[in-house]
Amino acid sequence: MQPIRNVAIVGAGLVGSGWAIVFARSGATVRVYDAEASIRASVLDRIRDSLADMREVGLVDDVDAIAGRITVADTLGDAVSDADYIQESVFERVDVKTAISLAIDAAMRPDAIVGSSSSGIPASAFTEGCVHRSRFLVSHPVNPPHLVPVVELVPAPWTDPAIVPFLRTEMARFGQVPVVVNREIAGFILNRLQGALLNEAWALFEEGYASAADIDATVAHGLGLRWSFMGPFETIDLNAPGGVADYAQRLGPLYHSVAQDRTEPKPWSEGLVGKVAAERREALPGESLADRRAWRDGRLMRLVAHKQAQKD
Ligand code: NAI
Repeated sequence: MQPIRNVAIVGAGLVGSGWAIVFARSGATVRVYDAEASIRASVLDRIRDSLADMREVGLVDDVDAIAGRITVADTLGDAVSDADYIQESVFERVDVKTAISLAIDAAMRPDAIVGSSSSGIPASAFTEGCVHRSRFLVSHPVNPPHLVPVVELVPAPWTDPAIVPFLRTEMARFGQVPVVVNREIAGFILNRLQGALLNEAWALFEEGYASAADIDATVAHGLGLRWSFMGPFETIDLNAPGGVADYAQRLGPLYHSVAQDRTEPKPWSEGLVGKVAAERREALPGESLADRRAWRDGRLMRLVAHKQAQKD
């Protein structure tokens, strides 16, 4: 397979526009398509704004050169027909993903690869009817993809086995950190890990053990500091004198007993969500959410710049 040079982005919302930056900043030519005319009209301005912010912290040099590699297509066919790689980022619904996969299938080159940004729906749920289904898989990013580099590659049972190692190399070349999920599971790895933490957070709040703010602080000023440069296995390997085996011996029984407390998973009830939402809206009014997202992206950019400077 030849290196990816021409990329199509299908769906240019939060995630699709970030993906356009990922590919263009590494030299690829990017064609962007969205079903909404208003999104097509505004996406290049949004991308330029993000690039300007990235330049301020040294994450990119030449905003004009990167933005100049990105163009907007008025039709799906125009975006995908010449693409080596197509990144689909439309709504997270099986019916929408199925329809767009069939439409891409009809317009793509037979040797192109199609990665879906799906957060948790496996590719086998929406690509079965595609003629080129062996070219489809999930390439799940984290929002925003141009700042948080991990991407989960999740093949369907019918994905050509040569595609995962190829895309792993290519995603790394584009500055992402690819991880491979060997076989399909709902939520993949990232959202299963996030879900385990969220489910416990909701339960602790519901049972009155702590406020939402204190649960958030435990992650922001505790667990999360380490998690920005190491995962749970490396964390425990360093947290006992004899490494992971020593940690397991000392604290394994505690974690086993904690897991036994939660044998009946509960839905996030309306009443419970309402209570956390009320605490959050008191701390951050709804009209300030967009500003706080911009603050988050600024902090993320500085963290990414710091990690890149450390090179480890
Ligand atoms: P979004 O709502 O910001 O963007 C979706 C875009 O797709 C919209 O602009 C919409 O007009 C367009 N669209 C819908 N149907 C289309 C079609 N048939 N053809 C062309 N364009 C179409 O949503 P977002 O957040 O960007 O999510 C996109 C995908 O990425 C979803 O699968 C989502 O689960 C996934 N994802 C989202 C993350 C997040 O935190 N927002 C993180 C990682 C993945």
